[in-house]
Amino acid sequence: MATSTLLPRSAADRPSWPLTGRRAELDLVLDALRSDSGKAVLVTGAPGVGKSRLAREATERLAADGWTTTWVAAGPATRDTPLGAVAHLLPRDAVGEPGRAVEHVRAAVARTPRLVVAVDDVQLLDHTTVSLLGPLLDAAPARLLVTAPEAGLAPDPLGALWRAGRAEVVELGRLDDLAVDTLLHRALGGPVAGATTLAFLDASDGNALYLREMVLGSLTAGALHEVDGVWRLEGTPQLSGVLRSVVQARLSRSSESRSRADRASSRAASSMSGGAWPSASSRSSATR
Ligand SMILES: Nc1ncnc2c1ncn2[C@@H]1O[C@H](COP(=O)(O)OP(=O)(O)O)[C@@H](O)[C@H]1O
Ligand SMILES: [Mg+2]
Repeated sequence: MATSTLLPRSAADRPSWPLTGRRAELDLVLDALRSDSGKAVLVTGAPGVGKSRLAREATERLAADGWTTTWVAAGPATRDTPLGAVAHLLPRDAVGEPGRAVEHVRAAVARTPRLVVAVDDVQLLDHTTVSLLGPLLDAAPARLLVTAPEAGLAPDPLGALWRAGRAEVVELGRLDDLAVDTLLHRALGGPVAGATTLAFLDASDGNALYLREMVLGSLTAGALHEVDGVWRLEGTPQLSGVLRSVVQARLSRSSESRSRADRASSRAASSMSGGAWPSASSRSSATR
């Protein structure tokens, strides 16, 4: 029997799911960030489509080329805490003091020639951290890479850059049929029956998150087997109870973030002030 790279050896040791497709989008992101005029790149698309994964890949490639990359994950846990999303990047005395944070960030940006700051789910960034984006964008060599469901949800000054046509927007659509086919083959470690590929295509509609959770759910439920060298699904793609709640939690968090961002955008537009950005102390970290 073929060994699936997806078969969990243990829950904590889940194998990787290789990045597939997205070559053109990745090139767009990298070219924009590397270019002399490049300042900000927004990666947009529906929840689960692969924005964070693409941004991770881009920062890893840049890190491998000698860039310094800093990853900021905005989210529900930190969105109501001033500087919550970047607290781990700041010296302790700067966390409660935006002024000190600004100085720290200015100094860090100034001494870091090739710096990319990635902000995942920028629409969930706390307002104080948002106020650091302007100075970061003003700092000549610094580059910003952000993800958001839609460009219109990016807070100013990023939103203003986008409206002025001065930020590159890379919009991710569904994975195409060939990418889904290839991904299934690579993840399962062998060929997949045509009807099985079609069933996963239909059920996921090329959404990477759904696809992954359905393949894992079907494996866990024992519905996906390798028979005579070919992977086949019995019945319909499964989401296990746990995986279903993970997907639902992620998707509802994303839709909640949209309405919250709608409410916040008008406030944020008028509250922009000067500031800076956190230390470039961390290098790119591993993908999920
Ligand atoms: N092109 C891809 N190839 C393989 N896996 C992918 C790809 N894009 C996304 N994934 C996987 O799909 C899941 C959802 O992707 P993610 O980047 O978190 O979506 P988003 O940030 O748009 O909500 C993750 O497990 C991710 O690793
Ligand atoms: Mg994401």
